[in-house]
Amino acid sequence: MLSQRLRLGVNIDHVATIRNARGGRFPDPVRAAHLAAQAGADGITAHLREDRRHISDHDIARLSKEIDLPLNFEMAATEEMLKIALEARPHAACIVPEKREERTTEGGLDARGQHNHLKPLIATLADNGTRVSLFIEADKAQLDAAVALGAPVVELHTGRYCDLHNDGDAKAAALELDRIREAARYGVALGLEVHAGHGLAFDTVEGVAAIPELTELNIGHFLVGEGIFIGLEAAIREMRRRMDAGRASARP
Ligand code: PXP
Repeated sequence: MLSQRLRLGVNIDHVATIRNARGGRFPDPVRAAHLAAQAGADGITAHLREDRRHISDHDIARLSKEIDLPLNFEMAATEEMLKIALEARPHAACIVPEKREERTTEGGLDARGQHNHLKPLIATLADNGTRVSLFIEADKAQLDAAVALGAPVVELHTGRYCDLHNDGDAKAAALELDRIREAARYGVALGLEVHAGHGLAFDTVEGVAAIPELTELNIGHFLVGEGIFIGLEAAIREMRRRMDAGRASARP
């Protein structure tokens, strides 16, 4: 079961960011989803934020109808998003913390502190056929909380690892990667499926992919940015290649 092929979920939010900079229809995130499928993505991820700064309700409706790959719907734990998820019936829903003023999802969900709020929401999504994951920090208490909440999947936040790497602090980055590795191992021992994502780029993905307990990475912003230079399809193919290289080096 360890060292299995790692799935790649391509997050298309920032195709919509570029579209929304001007309004109108171009570039179309649904077209990006089709292209991602051709390039070897295993799933499509999209975050419908409360302020609709990138993905729109109409994008979610179209993605649900028009793409063949599983849709991973990132959502805040609100009544509004729950209603939309129940209607769209995505394959998966990843519950993320959301603050209106943040630039991106900063920090993981407090699964422990929000137990009473999250428990019925997770059960309602699961009863509707959606697989729920919780976007959390690599922290044992949060992994225990995910189990207590009945979530089958967690996604570990790799943002801090990527920031430390990008700042050139190799020692701190290695420690953070160890923390993610340990959390992945602990999560699998608890019976959770463990994913990871946020901030990953060509030079940070291999170390994360080498963690054998991980089964899926969700990657978006870097791929859309790299798409400007080498094309989105080539960027996804190169990411896939590096994930496979990282996974090939995995030692259980
Ligand atoms: N996973 C989660 C839960 C996220 O919120 C995001 C950002 O929307 C990503 C992965 C992808 O992060 P990035 O766009 O930095 O690759």
